Amino acid sequence: MADERTPTPAERPDASPPEHLLIVDALEKVYGSGEAATHALKGVSFEFAEAEFASIIGQSGSGKSTLLNLLGLLDTPSGGTVRYRGEDAGSLGKPQRAGLRNSLIGFVFQFHHLLPEFSVYENVAMPSLIAGMADDASLRERAQETLGLLGLDGVADKSANALSGGQKQRVAIARALMNRPALVLADEPTGNLDTSNTDLVYDLFRSINEQTGTAFLIVTHDRGVAQRTDRILEVRDGELVADERNRYLG
Ligand SMILES: Nc1ncnc2c1ncn2[C@@H]1O[C@H](COP(=O)(O)OP(=O)(O)O)[C@@H](O)[C@H]1O
Ligand SMILES: [Mg+2]
Repeated sequence: MADERTPTPAERPDASPPEHLLIVDALEKVYGSGEAATHALKGVSFEFAEAEFASIIGQSGSGKSTLLNLLGLLDTPSGGTVRYRGEDAGSLGKPQRAGLRNSLIGFVFQFHHLLPEFSVYENVAMPSLIAGMADDASLRERAQETLGLLGLDGVADKSANALSGGQKQRVAIARALMNRPALVLADEPTGNLDTSNTDLVYDLFRSINEQTGTAFLIVTHDRGVAQRTDRILEVRDGELVADERNRYLG
């Protein structure tokens, strides 16, 4: 009998480019074991294209951060697969997985995690320096350009301490964009900001998405924020219960 199944990218014999940035299949996560086990994700599957701008919503404890950590290759699933551009992350060794993460993914968390006694430039450049890049004119230029994208011209030499909360979070976003990731994973990135800074961050995410084609997957518990993305994935009790295209205008 003929196999009618669509071949997975790994099975495709030709070198045609994979359509999806990310394919998540039957993802499971169990924390702990026995009586104390928490089944945090129960078979989550979805596909995610290059340059998408989407959100993940769901109540506290529904599994949003667990999902994001698995997508970000920060943690390993109990079952299922995460594939980036056809590459099964689960089949990679630790260093290869870290390499995939560093080349494809930028993270933004609720708390900015800046090093207060370092300059803005040092904070933004730190991951590149740790990865072994030279602290030279080209890195400096890339940092300036990235800070510019976030509306942070002229602050590179200031101490991170000297910035407002909203500016600090924008520096953290600049840091996430430094290696020009294909995907930004953001976990409640505006959970700590007031309304005007929240709006500013979403406008910046959107404009970076449009200008650079960087995909965004943003966890939020705020439906108003989610309404401003193109696709809303809803997690409830470890399951993906909705996956809607958002048909807003403008
Ligand atoms: N490291 C962990 N160890 C044990 N249980 C965890 C851990 N992280 C999350 N959980 C549990 O998994 C479930 C999902 O948590 P989480 O993914 O943080 O949800 P959300 O981000 O939607 O609030 C919750 O019941 C939570 O208590
Ligand atoms: Mg969370």
